[in-house]
Amino acid sequence: MTNQIFITGCGTFIPPEVIDNETLVKAYNAHVQEHNQKYSKEIAVGDKTALKISSADFIKNASGIEKRHVMEASGIIDPRRLRPELEDRNPDELSYQAEMGLAAAKSALDQANKSAKDVGMLISACSNYERPYPSLAIEVQKALGIVGFAFDMNVACSSVPFAIRLAYNSLITQPELPGVLIVTPEFYTGHLNFRDRDSHFIFGDAAGALYLERSKTSKSNNIFSVKNIQLLTHFSNNIRNDGGFLRQAVNRNDPWHPRNLFSQQGRAVFKEIIPLVSEMILDQLEEENIERSSVKRVWLHQANSKMNLLLAKKILAREPSPSELPLVLNKYGNTGAAGVVLAFSESQNLDQGSWGVFCAFGAGYSAGSVLLQKC
Ligand code: COA
Repeated sequence: MTNQIFITGCGTFIPPEVIDNETLVKAYNAHVQEHNQKYSKEIAVGDKTALKISSADFIKNASGIEKRHVMEASGIIDPRRLRPELEDRNPDELSYQAEMGLAAAKSALDQANKSAKDVGMLISACSNYERPYPSLAIEVQKALGIVGFAFDMNVACSSVPFAIRLAYNSLITQPELPGVLIVTPEFYTGHLNFRDRDSHFIFGDAAGALYLERSKTSKSNNIFSVKNIQLLTHFSNNIRNDGGFLRQAVNRNDPWHPRNLFSQQGRAVFKEIIPLVSEMILDQLEEENIERSSVKRVWLHQANSKMNLLLAKKILAREPSPSELPLVLNKYGNTGAAGVVLAFSESQNLDQGSWGVFCAFGAGYSAGSVLLQKC
C-alpha cells in the first residue's frame, strides 16, 4: 500500500471492579452444589446430569487467565444470580457501552493530541451491542461533540482490523475527513453463560480506541504507519451466540437458554484458527518483502496464552520474548475485540522503523492482520 496513514492515538478503558479465578470458581461451585442437591433424586435415576465443579488451576493452565475486570461484579459472584446486576438506564442517560467507548475515545484523542474537531468519522467496532439502534457510535459522537458521521459495525473479536481497513480507505478517498476514531467497547460479561463450566471464566469487560490520520505531526512518541491490511472470513459454527432479536419469535426466551449466550468448541477453534491466521500473516509479510526476523512485535487477540505463543512462533520462526509477544489476558481475560488494542496500548515502545503485526481473530471465523511500522 503506497498511501500513508498513521495510527497516532491509542486509548483504553478498564472498569475498576475485578474478579479473580478463585472468587469466580467459588460462586460457580456454590451453584453446582445447590443444583446437584436440588436435583439429587433426578440425578440418581439418570433423569438429570450432575454438574461438575470448576477449578481455578484448570482456568489458569488452560487459558492463561488469572482475573478479569468487569462492569459489575456483585451479581456475577452471587451464586443465585451469576450475571451482572445493572440498573436499566433511561434513554436520556449515557448507555453502558457508550460510557466505556467514550472513556477510551478520550484517552486515544489525548495521546494523539487531538479533539472532537479532528474527527470526521467515528466507528464503533465490537462483538456485542446493548441495543440494535440508535447506533452506539452516534451516541459517543454526540457525547464528544463530533461533527461528521458515526456508525456501528461487528465482526466479532476481529472487528478492529476490519474497522482499520474502513478507516484507511476512507482517509485515502475522502480528503475532507480530518481523522477517524475507532472505539471498541466490549461488555462481554453481559452475555457470558456463568452457569457453563466450559466458558464461565473466559471473558472480561474493557474498551479500546484508536485514532487514525494522514499526518504524523502529532506530538505522540507512539506513531505507527499502516503498511498492509489483510482480512479473511470463513464460516464456522464453532463460536456462536443466537441471542438475537428473533429470540421471542422462535420461542427461545429463557435467558439461560444456552443458545442465547456465548458458546464455543474451544478445542476446535484452537486447532482451526491457528493455520488460518498464521498463513494469512506469512502471506502478508511475503507480499511486503519483510523477513520474519525483522518483525519485533506481535500484538494478538487475547483469547488463550498457549494459542498466542504458538501463533507467534509460527510467525517469527523463533521463540518470542515476553516483550515481542505482549500478553494481557492474565489480568483482563478475553476482552473480545478490545484485547488486541489493550495489548497494543501497553507495549508501543518499539525502535523507529521496526515492524509489528497487529492481529485479531474470532467468531465467523474472521481474522484481520495489520502490518505496522514504528515512525
Ligand atoms: N474447570 C475444570 N475443568 C474444566 C473446566 C473448568 N472450568 N472447563 C472444562 N473443563 C474440563 C472439560 O470438561 C474437559 O474434561 P474431560 O476431559 O473430562 O472432557 C477438560 O477440562 C478439558 O477441556 P477442554 O475444553 O478440552 O480444555 P482446553 O484445554 O481446550 O481449554 C479453552 C479450553 C476454552 C481454554 C481453550 O480450548 C481455548 O481457549 N480455545 C481457544 C478459544 C478461542 O480462541 N476462542 C475465540 C473466542 S473469541
